[in-house]
Amino acid sequence: MVPPSAVADPTAASLGSSDAPAIKEPVKDTILTPRFYTTDFDAMAAMDLRPNEVELEAICEEFRKDYNRHHFVRNEAFEGAADKLDPETRRVFIEFLEQSCTSEFSGFLLYKELSRRIKDRNPLLAECFAHMARDEARHAGFLNKSMADFGLQLDLGFLTANKAYTFFKPKFIFYATYLSEKIGYWRYIAIFRHLEQHPESKIFPIFNFFENWCQDENRHGDFFDALMKAQPDTVRGLQARLWCRFFLLAVFATMYVRDVARKEFYEALGLDARSYDRYVIAKTNETSARVFPVVLNVDHPKFYVRLERLVRNNNALAEADASSAPAPLKLLRKLPFWAANATEMAKLFLMAPIRSDRFQPAVR
Ligand SMILES: [Fe+2]
Ligand SMILES: [Fe+2]
Repeated sequence: MVPPSAVADPTAASLGSSDAPAIKEPVKDTILTPRFYTTDFDAMAAMDLRPNEVELEAICEEFRKDYNRHHFVRNEAFEGAADKLDPETRRVFIEFLEQSCTSEFSGFLLYKELSRRIKDRNPLLAECFAHMARDEARHAGFLNKSMADFGLQLDLGFLTANKAYTFFKPKFIFYATYLSEKIGYWRYIAIFRHLEQHPESKIFPIFNFFENWCQDENRHGDFFDALMKAQPDTVRGLQARLWCRFFLLAVFATMYVRDVARKEFYEALGLDARSYDRYVIAKTNETSARVFPVVLNVDHPKFYVRLERLVRNNNALAEADASSAPAPLKLLRKLPFWAANATEMAKLFLMAPIRSDRFQPAVR
């Protein structure tokens, strides 16, 4: 697999700060860390947009306006802000910055490469991807500057060259990125609104930027919504229903397990990780009903019971990992929890979904 060539990209180079803070070694890859994607560029280039060209053109026009051109400018509020955090909050906050920066950067790489590879054959699509790459570069760069406030920096060039790239067919890229954009929107806006009500919990000035920031993610999500409607087979028929269920579940379960595992970060903001995730899941599920043919029944009493079992299994896996037992014994200890996770995921997947045309969220 050819990794995207963004290392040589000037935007990527400018993502770092000019100071020279310590380079933060990327966290070990697990199922819970953000992924880097690549896809079938020829299939993307050959995509016929005519079924929804008017909407895509309108979205591209919005992108051209570049509403957040002047938004991501650091101000005096950042000065000395990093020194005010106690060591534990500092640790979880840096983790949050790193994960967010990696996932924003992963979006940048994918969109940039897509735009570059299809430029001559599918100009409208290429232009949309270029605008989104611009936004994600800004987001990643802004997060990386906050890391520099803590004397750390992610080496994005190293990440580009050394991360494993997951290959997804275009329609899977659509499901995965649509969900990650919409979930990103709900995550950022939920934190922003909470901190608006509880300014005493605003541990770092970066949260002041979340309101306009999440509008970028919302527009990116709308772009993928329109793109799926231009390729109606991606959201029509039995296969599409099964895949949409799978992606909704994979994204929700991963987020839930990850956020509960770092609940201290949410506590530092005065949030309960579980309630926060329930809110974000409910809203993202509701939003997805606008384009996916089915969504999950997240109000089913068993839904969170099963997610909690995943959390427990994951804790047990982490404990086994941390033990000093020899590798084969560790593996033996972990096997039953992997099996239990697979069973829970299968049960969750088999729960009856809700047809989107019949989906009636309690609050619109
Ligand atoms: Fe972003
Ligand atoms: Fe985005």
